[in-house]
Amino acid sequence: MNPHLKLLSTYESRNVTHLAEDGAWPIVWERAKGVHVWDTDGKKYLDLTGAFAVAATGHANPRVTQAAQAQFAKLPHAMGDVHPHPLKGELARALSKLTFERWAKKEFQQVHNHCLPHEIPPRHAKTIFCNSGFEAVEAALKTALLATDKPGVIAFEGAYHGLGYGALNTTHRAMFHKPFRKQLGKFSRFAQFPETEAARAETLAHLEKLFQKHSIGAVLMEPIQGRAGLRVPPLRFLGDLKTLCKSHHALLICDEIYTGFGRTGEWFACDSSQFYPDLICLGKALTNGFPLSACVGRAAVMDRAWPASEGEAIHTSTYLGHPVGCAMALAQIKELKEKKLITKTRRLGKKFEKLYQRYPIEGARYIGRGLMAGLAFNPSDGPRVMAAVKTMLQRGYILLPAGEHGQVIAFSPPLTITEKQLERTLATLQKVMS
Ligand SMILES: Cc1ncc(COP(=O)(O)O)c(C=O)c1O
Repeated sequence: MNPHLKLLSTYESRNVTHLAEDGAWPIVWERAKGVHVWDTDGKKYLDLTGAFAVAATGHANPRVTQAAQAQFAKLPHAMGDVHPHPLKGELARALSKLTFERWAKKEFQQVHNHCLPHEIPPRHAKTIFCNSGFEAVEAALKTALLATDKPGVIAFEGAYHGLGYGALNTTHRAMFHKPFRKQLGKFSRFAQFPETEAARAETLAHLEKLFQKHSIGAVLMEPIQGRAGLRVPPLRFLGDLKTLCKSHHALLICDEIYTGFGRTGEWFACDSSQFYPDLICLGKALTNGFPLSACVGRAAVMDRAWPASEGEAIHTSTYLGHPVGCAMALAQIKELKEKKLITKTRRLGKKFEKLYQRYPIEGARYIGRGLMAGLAFNPSDGPRVMAAVKTMLQRGYILLPAGEHGQVIAFSPPLTITEKQLERTLATLQKVMS
């Protein structure tokens, strides 16, 4: 057995790292650069996962790394909610501009075709910084309760919002919450996540009933479900939810922890539908590789929810708004803009779909948007998918299965990947799966 894995198997808790008996899984990452990863044996891999869709601008991106190193040397830690550092405000402002300020302009222009910039009413966002993605979801759930005074939350079948005890109530898959049910709250109801127009109508009718029956303060949704297997709802669905929430005085929360920062070919997946939430949860690609996340909301909503400070924050954590994470996030946003990675991803996503037609695989259907793509097989094909993912690993390609039955081969590579690298992946996958 690989000595690093042996060590881990002795000292890391069970049920964290899965170690296959045949030694085919996992590899031990030594270093990474751009779209490539090297293991401790020096073998090179093409990373089609972006390490859980985090490394959007490429692993160890020079601009982001340099920002992290400089910040680490200058101030590696400040005092969360007590004595802040300057980058926290700067990042909160950058997130406001990227989200609610940009959306306000779009919404205003949709209604008033020819408006001048000074005619657009000001609207900005406020942020609560957190560490992991699930914490941003929990901050959003608390915000919704405080803002509406209604405890109920509607989430969707297949949803993955993380595994902390708050977020876990809204994560759908039984394997995650069943062992802990005795300690879980009961504030969530689940509705079907529609993937077709017919299902959309059914879901809307069900949602209306849930609103009538329960005191619902928030609807929480992933604009495209990630871990559930790249499930894309009809484009109008987000608008439907927005209308429904408005008429029932509830908040719409978009969990864009997976889909955010260019992954789908837009800054955020909700940009495609041109309907925007009241709160958005961000993480993963926000920093390119540091545990920093954010719950960003319309300033009016955030101010309605959170009372003025009386000295001690009622929601905080030691590392809140970590300076290194903030420095990385500011550099990451700059890099995404300057390298025009959002537009590039939109184009590459379309090319990827076309490329798949050249390398089709029996029983597989192309799904997704931008570089959040997948090949969906039948649920019973889960073992076949896992076997292919393992063989691909031996051949130098890092992939992950997604979906409740592991029936989807998911692609969330760094957005810097090339068409050639995607084509090489599909060609190899086709050979492996035939
Ligand atoms: C949509 C979504 N929300 C929340 C999370 C949880 O984030 P974290 O694992 O950083 O807590 C994930 C993680 O994959 C995710 O995909």
